[in-house]
Amino acid sequence: MDAKYFDEWYAGIGASAADERFFTEALGVPVEVGPQNLVPLAGLRQIAAALAAEPGGLLVDIACGRGGPGMWLARELDLELLGVDFSAEAVRQATKRRSRFGLTERATFAVGTFDSTGLAAGAADAVVCIDAFQFSSDRVKAAEEMRRLLRPGGRVVLTGWEPKQPGDDELPERMRDLDFGAALDAAGFTDVVRTLKPEWDEVEHALWTQAAALDPGDDPALVSTKEEAEQALPLFDRRHRVMATAVAP
Ligand SMILES: C[S@@+](CC[C@H](N)C(=O)[O-])C[C@H]1O[C@@H](n2cnc3c(N)ncnc32)[C@H](O)[C@@H]1O
Repeated sequence: MDAKYFDEWYAGIGASAADERFFTEALGVPVEVGPQNLVPLAGLRQIAAALAAEPGGLLVDIACGRGGPGMWLARELDLELLGVDFSAEAVRQATKRRSRFGLTERATFAVGTFDSTGLAAGAADAVVCIDAFQFSSDRVKAAEEMRRLLRPGGRVVLTGWEPKQPGDDELPERMRDLDFGAALDAAGFTDVVRTLKPEWDEVEHALWTQAAALDPGDDPALVSTKEEAEQALPLFDRRHRVMATAVAP
């Protein structure tokens, strides 16, 4: 899935108020968040607590998408925000959506990749990557870039899914070998903690069940959501939801 794929995906989502409403309501998040992730509101609160950033610091959101979850965190914790995504369309929409959060002066979005964010070393007080780490082709390199961005003592929080059976070839290739703790360890982080999130799984299962029953009409974003649900549900019990945190030395 390259940047062009995501550009088209975001163009479809950007044009669908119904798709945005579906995810927002199913996850229970405020309407301005417009998430492209599967983290319920309680999960966003857990991420905010785990980032443990002081007001006024800089949060970097890697693979930020349309920016809503990162802006929710920045607003909640009173932080500056820098978001990076390889989809220029996501960055364009994120920039436009800053006013929804009153963060026009305090949030910036730019095109960049996991391995090459283009941001200054040691500038970040906290780094977050929500439901996107599976798309990095080299997990250790991606984690090393996060470590490079953080000042000593700064925290990273990753969310996503890991296979229950490592290497499970029923799962999409990007998820088969995911091991958040191993990537963070190999990148030299300390205090690596990996937590299973069964309560997020429950919300996600309900969301996909509802999505599979949708009548998407001719809305391409809803069609794509329904297709994703039909792929996700049969594999649901083969992976679990994970949040990983670590500290830059
Ligand atoms: C499931 S979305 C999550 C977006 C956002 N974090 C959120 O929570 O709404 C995954 C994101 O990863 C981005 N992405 C995928 N591969 C990437 C790469 N190699 N470098 C940067 N971003 C990437 C996509 O463009 C997409 O925005």
